[in-house]
Amino acid sequence: MAEFSLPANSRIVGGNSYKAPAGAKNVKTFKIYRFDPDSGRTPRIDNFEIDLDDCGPMVLDALIKIKNEVDATLTFRRSCREGVCGSCAFNIDGTNTLACTKYIAEVKGDVKIYPLPHMPVVKDLVPDLTHAYAQHASIEPWLKSATPAPGRERLQTPEDRAKLDGLWECILCFCCATSCPSYWWNGERYLGPAILLQAYRWIADTRDEATGERLDNLEDPFRLYRCHTIMNCTKTCPKHLNPAKAIAEIKKLMVARR
Ligand code: SF4
Ligand code: F3S
Ligand code: FES
Repeated sequence: MAEFSLPANSRIVGGNSYKAPAGAKNVKTFKIYRFDPDSGRTPRIDNFEIDLDDCGPMVLDALIKIKNEVDATLTFRRSCREGVCGSCAFNIDGTNTLACTKYIAEVKGDVKIYPLPHMPVVKDLVPDLTHAYAQHASIEPWLKSATPAPGRERLQTPEDRAKLDGLWECILCFCCATSCPSYWWNGERYLGPAILLQAYRWIADTRDEATGERLDNLEDPFRLYRCHTIMNCTKTCPKHLNPAKAIAEIKKLMVARR
């Protein structure tokens, strides 16, 4: 039988441990993935004991506390602290989600924090999103219209505007794409649920006049049709959106125009 083993430097090893301050009564351990490609060292898991009586309620509060007070080299992205910028997406307690909207109290036992799965890691919890952003650019995410712009805004009926609900709220956090096995296996060519939901956001917009061109751009065995309705994307979306449904709507339009 074939035997596969990972190269030694890709196996995660035990790392540093930091104790809570003496006298802390409400202690929780955070186990955090650490990787610095410049060091040449193997990725490790560091353990940080945090006094929850001296910490905000969210996982992001604990990360910021660790960076400010324990280890300033801990590297992660964050900006808004209220679930709208999409930058603090990590794998927390086995699920991709936003650290700023995830309560520490929701996690039983130790809080395990890893970068989003199956993405190259720049450092610690920071994934390299270069390819994902290039895929986003490839769907040309802006309004296309041959109709000259009116003096004021392009109006829509309330019914047409409602077609964008469940789409415009996407914050491009990539929790969905990095939970999708099809994206893990074919991410070079498959656009994945985040970008396909974004593509449908423009297809569904009645002010946009490039629907045919947009569908042509997706008519490809990999870019769209590598979605096999696995549904992890919808299950994990921290904004409670439904990228699987958006993908199904695109597939229906593909069939309807044949
Ligand atoms: Fe994030 Fe949800 Fe948008 Fe996916 S659909 S990128 S999980 S907000
Ligand atoms: Fe992946 Fe979601 Fe489709 S998990 S296979 S994009 S339904
Ligand atoms: Fe902006 Fe979490 S910091 S979504």
